[in-house]
Amino acid sequence: MNEYDSSRMLDVLRHDCGFDVTHDPSNADVLLLNTCSIREKAQEKVFSQLGQWRPLKEKNPDVLIGVGGCVASQEGESLAARAKQVDVVFGPQTIHRLPDLLDQAATGRKAVIDISFPEMEKFDCLPEPGHQGPVAYVSVMEGCSKYCTYCVVPYTRGEEFSRPLDDVLHEIGLLAGQGAREVTLLGQNVNGYRGLDRHGNIVDFSLLLYYVSDIEGIERIRYTSSHPVEFSDNLIDTYAEIPELVNHVHLPVQSGSDRILSAMKRGYTALEYKSIIRKLRRHRPDVSISSDFIVGFPGETDQDFEDTMELVEEVGFDQSYSFIYSRRPGTPAASLEDPVSLDVKKQRLQRLQETIRNASMDRSQAMLGTDQVVLVEGHSKKSAQEYSGRTENNRVVNFDAPHDVRGRFVRLEITGVYSNSLRGAFHETAM
Ligand code: 5AD
Ligand code: SF4
Repeated sequence: MNEYDSSRMLDVLRHDCGFDVTHDPSNADVLLLNTCSIREKAQEKVFSQLGQWRPLKEKNPDVLIGVGGCVASQEGESLAARAKQVDVVFGPQTIHRLPDLLDQAATGRKAVIDISFPEMEKFDCLPEPGHQGPVAYVSVMEGCSKYCTYCVVPYTRGEEFSRPLDDVLHEIGLLAGQGAREVTLLGQNVNGYRGLDRHGNIVDFSLLLYYVSDIEGIERIRYTSSHPVEFSDNLIDTYAEIPELVNHVHLPVQSGSDRILSAMKRGYTALEYKSIIRKLRRHRPDVSISSDFIVGFPGETDQDFEDTMELVEEVGFDQSYSFIYSRRPGTPAASLEDPVSLDVKKQRLQRLQETIRNASMDRSQAMLGTDQVVLVEGHSKKSAQEYSGRTENNRVVNFDAPHDVRGRFVRLEITGVYSNSLRGAFHETAM
């Protein structure tokens, strides 16, 4: 979501101010930092980056420094007070006001701060997205009203709101016209989407998927991040009906212990989570499941962690984003007793990650020798002669091709398996 927000900042500055990007900070007139406060470490990085930029500001006081995103939203005035080199503080919902805020900062002497939540205004004011390449991202809802006890998102991004159906479809249609073949629908609680159609009727996430799958040119649909409570039977059934939906679902579980899930206020049990996966696999037996885990939530016992490991074994996750719990000031969990040592938490995390890594490697090995359809995103990171794309289950594949295949679907045979990517042999262009 932050990368998407950054690209929208660029869109608005290009469109309204005629700005362009330099990758050399000493060349810049404006330095922008988009920030994340989901864990303490991400938040710390903000101040170290601002420290690195201070000499640039001292050398040229006309340079404007802006800080956006969730740290800006959470800290507001105190960020500008702590980092005097900052001229503009803006939140995730005010990126469309950037040209105005930068203008004000250039003419005034005080830092300009706007971290309000004007909700729909942002989408109404942002220019149409400038897009390059076959893979596009579209925000369909924003904010979160789930208030999991460990999480800052509802406070930094505000409560949930869904964009109207027609706006979303219009934007995806434009992107498809510019060459997008795959779209990722974005939202903090994306399957909680409840947008209005032109008659004022509520459209839920599964219906949205049907509409998106009808858009010409869009062959693959992904979405992130979904919540188990909103994973309705209707949504599960779309996997039988919509071939454009990829064979991969990212469904954060956080923990396999019902006691911890309840303390997190997640609203489901481990059994309910497993039942969603079982139903999904009825439609798509080989669907890849990835997930988010928090290890060491306050009071997590050895038994709680073993429950998580049991769930991991049972579900067979393909990939995980797993982190040690990070105390976030202002959240309900921040005041809970936390007697477990960091060392124990680190050991638990390592065990979890190793188990999932091994399972993921086994699945990659099973792909060896199979044919896979890959959407080619561009040249590979290592070589300009090589191409790189993703399989339906989201694995990166590098390969050589006899002609330029960027932006196309190709059929490859998987010939090599590495820890972060696969190697493929080109067969033919597909679709
Ligand atoms: N500590 C650790 N991980 C967190 N996440 C959210 N808040 C915290 C926190 N306080 C993780 C969750 C969520 C992902 C986006 O970030 O696993 O799914
Ligand atoms: Fe945070 Fe996700 Fe919970 Fe919302 S659903 S509060 S974004 S972890």
